[in-house]
Amino acid sequence: TSEPLKVAVTGAAGQIGYSLLFRLASGALGDRPIELRLLEIEPALKSLEGVVMELDDCAFPTLAGVEIGADAEKIFDGVNLALLVGARPRGPGMERGDLLSANGAIFTAQGKALNAVAADDVRIGVTGNPANTNALIAMTNAPDIPRERFSALTRLDHNRAISQLAAKTGAKVTDIKKMTIWGNHSATQYPDLFHAEVNGQNAAEAVGDQAWLENDFIPTVAKRGAAIIEARGSSSAASAASATIDAARDWLHGSAADDWVSMAVVSHGEYDVPEGLISSFPVTTSGGDWSIVEGLEIDEFSRARIDASTAELADERNAVTELGLI
Ligand code: NAI
Repeated sequence: TSEPLKVAVTGAAGQIGYSLLFRLASGALGDRPIELRLLEIEPALKSLEGVVMELDDCAFPTLAGVEIGADAEKIFDGVNLALLVGARPRGPGMERGDLLSANGAIFTAQGKALNAVAADDVRIGVTGNPANTNALIAMTNAPDIPRERFSALTRLDHNRAISQLAAKTGAKVTDIKKMTIWGNHSATQYPDLFHAEVNGQNAAEAVGDQAWLENDFIPTVAKRGAAIIEARGSSSAASAASATIDAARDWLHGSAADDWVSMAVVSHGEYDVPEGLISSFPVTTSGGDWSIVEGLEIDEFSRARIDASTAELADERNAVTELGLI
């Protein structure tokens, strides 16, 4: 019998958690039994108990156990995968600096706790916003964990871009390969069609409509989160959970041979992205490790957009440095 995979989820009583936990428990990461470690703040533990009752009631064969609590060092003990979903949303009247410091406190503490008690093979995926900078804060506060074990979620943007391109070209989502999101998980992100393919053909050429690409595709993908809030009255949760699963599954089990995925990971200076920023890149994954796809030619149009988004990341890094969080 194989040891269960220990998976921590923070913010487990939230909207994304309600979608994510059931998929994790039902085998979305594979047949290996899974033990869930669910972290919440004290006031949300009662509601989380209700979610655990529902998990029990599903009688999932792959669910080996569930533990809940508000103490990160207890919950993260021995975890192989940590999905950091819980974050402080921007409240009324809250400035960007307030948001960064509220989240800074959360991700400083969680980085330290992971550093102290996580399993040696831990991988950490940050979904909670601002995801890239939260991941940077956690990474910086976990000096004994290799920096490459931290990643922020841009897979939802990646999936959104595939879906928009499929709709535009009439292709199936499975006909689309090599999509890339560059930069920050924010409105400055750059979804890149110049390296993507539709049925083996260059996507920008297949579309053949630069105006659509600039004025429709890029803003639609980048502002999709706001459009969903507008339509649904609350933020994207099931699709964010689904992307969180896609990202974790590919990280642990490897990406498809003829394709790549988008992940925000630490820059070693690739594509002139400043060293140490957690920025989205095209990556392949294998054996639990990622590597950035190298050698792509970046034209002037793409260069300007990548630079704008990474400049925003550098600003966020400066802000959290000034706040003493990293
Ligand atoms: P939510 O507000 O429904 O749930 C967040 C949960 O986190 C709450 O239950 C809260 O009690 C918990 N929490 C707050 N501080 C915590 C702490 N210190 N430790 C543990 N839990 C804590 O929010 P939702 O919709 O589930 O979204 C979660 C995050 O994911 C938000 O930051 C949201 O902006 C982000 N998000 C990211 C996406 C991405 O593509 N990267 C897409 C969609 C959402």
